[in-house]
Amino acid sequence: MNKLKWGVLSTANIGLTKVLPAIQKSENGVVYAIASRSERTASDAASHLSIPVSYSSYQELLDDPEVEAIYNPLPNHLHVEWTIKAMMAGKHVLCEKPLALKLEDINKLIELRDKTGLTVSEAFMVRYHPQWLTARKAVREGNIGLLRNIQGFFSYYNDDKNNIRNIKEAGGGGIWDIGCYPVTTSRFIFDEEPLRVASILEYDPETGTDRMSSVMMEFPSGQASFSCSTQLSPYQRMQIFGTKGRLEVEIPFNAPADKACRIFLSKGDFYFEDYELIDFPVCDQYTLQAESFVRTIRGEQDNHVPLEDALRNMKVLEAIFKAGKSGKWEDVC
Ligand SMILES: NC(=O)c1ccc[n+]([C@@H]2O[C@H](COP(=O)([O-])OP(=O)(O)OC[C@H]3O[C@@H](n4cnc5c(N)ncnc54)[C@H](OP(=O)(O)O)[C@@H]3O)[C@@H](O)[C@H]2O)c1
Repeated sequence: MNKLKWGVLSTANIGLTKVLPAIQKSENGVVYAIASRSERTASDAASHLSIPVSYSSYQELLDDPEVEAIYNPLPNHLHVEWTIKAMMAGKHVLCEKPLALKLEDINKLIELRDKTGLTVSEAFMVRYHPQWLTARKAVREGNIGLLRNIQGFFSYYNDDKNNIRNIKEAGGGGIWDIGCYPVTTSRFIFDEEPLRVASILEYDPETGTDRMSSVMMEFPSGQASFSCSTQLSPYQRMQIFGTKGRLEVEIPFNAPADKACRIFLSKGDFYFEDYELIDFPVCDQYTLQAESFVRTIRGEQDNHVPLEDALRNMKVLEAIFKAGKSGKWEDVC
């Protein structure tokens, strides 16, 4: 099979450590070229990962006619600018989350996608992991009775002032970085959009980025809440409550590529003695994401997360920031 040639915008840590090795394992793509602002960084990364071509500017990568799709893991504030540049160069784009920092920017991308016919997607890899597909199926099949409530937590500790997560102008802060995950997975499981949200956001006085947040979302058929923090002990968990049972996704977001993942299906006892363990064969959610993206480009299937979904997620994130400021419930519109 003719494998798709990926080009990579930057030597971002997530690319070098997770996504590029995952693409290299994929059945329908190869990492063909990587670009960095510095020639040395680009060639070091290329030799480290055996990538055939390296460029010392992002534009040179976009100008390479061999490159068919771009993976964009730039800092958040550069996602839209470089996704548009890549599309103008005729490339499909898989862009890291959050795709944009403003709603109207996603509308621009949708317009350009419709004009060009290119495939563009926000890289929410969790949406391709079998554990989330299984959780959604179990809920739909009534295994926990009627779905009513979702609770989540996502935290890590990182107070490095030079890290993009702690730089306000780069789109730093916990909601953009990790709060987006409980939002997307709650929407995925409810299969609905929240009507309104309330939130408490605490900002780091030095960096101005949100460092600890608690959010409530009212959905048409239930409620979801989560807390997230960039300055707490690392933890992640999602719990999905129905009238007859509960699903617990043990490692909901950073599912490891070398260990089996587990979901607990509890039929409801306080002491957690009666539960069914659903485990999943080892898989790499970044590989699944890349393969799905390429299959969509090739017209073999169309199950990548579309830009319309990124738009709906963004509406919720915007309402969370608004509610944090106003101290009131804010409609998601
Ligand atoms: N899906 C996931 O699991 C996941 C996990 C972590 C992060 N992410 C997302 O991936 C993106 C990158 O995160 P990361 O932690 O990997 O970032 P990072 O290591 O800081 O890398 C960002 C890269 O962007 C380039 N860059 C261009 N302009 C820059 C500027 N003004 N400041 C800093 N870097 C600049 C640099 O590459 P060059 O020097 O090579 O040009 C830098 O290495 C973010 O959008 C983040 O939300 C996703």
